[in-house]
Amino acid sequence: MPKLLILYDSQTGNTEKMAEAVAEGARSVANVEVIVKYYARPEELAEASAIIFGSPTYYHDMTLPIKQMLEEAARANIQLKDKIGAAFGSYGWSGEAPQLILEILKNRFGVKTIEPALTTIYTPNKAVLEECRKLGKAVAEKIVT
Ligand SMILES: Cc1cc2nc3c(=O)[nH]c(=O)nc-3n(C[C@H](O)[C@H](O)[C@H](O)COP(=O)(O)O)c2cc1C
Repeated sequence: MPKLLILYDSQTGNTEKMAEAVAEGARSVANVEVIVKYYARPEELAEASAIIFGSPTYYHDMTLPIKQMLEEAARANIQLKDKIGAAFGSYGWSGEAPQLILEILKNRFGVKTIEPALTTIYTPNKAVLEECRKLGKAVAEKIVT
């Protein structure tokens, strides 16, 4: 069964709410294994057919655990080429983290990214959570065999 990894970080719960909705949408598609975690080793990334990253923006950047995962994957030289990638996250005023993640997935790893990143200011409202569900479902549908 193809695997969809949802990897996220959230300091105050806003991006976490988005992650839960993304997972809900992904789980609505049969025959896809949906795994939601804070951290995955490079080999786990390599085993997934799709990876969706969630990161809030702190200090105009993604959070350290997310950056570390990307760094470890790069050092391990794992192949992510042509996997599906997406990103989401909550922010306060600049919100660049999810788009930065997509740039790295695309340019460093050759991931096929779904653009633009899905972002929201502070707490996600109902409409945003629905967008999150749609994103999860759309990614799962792309990898189901
Ligand atoms: C110390 C600190 C730094 C922050 N830096 C940024 C920033 O550079 N750009 C931005 O858009 N939001 C910034 N924010 C706002 C957070 O992105 C926002 O509160 C977001 O909802 C947090 O998501 P989370 O609940 O998933 O951690 C910052 C917040 C804090 C507390």
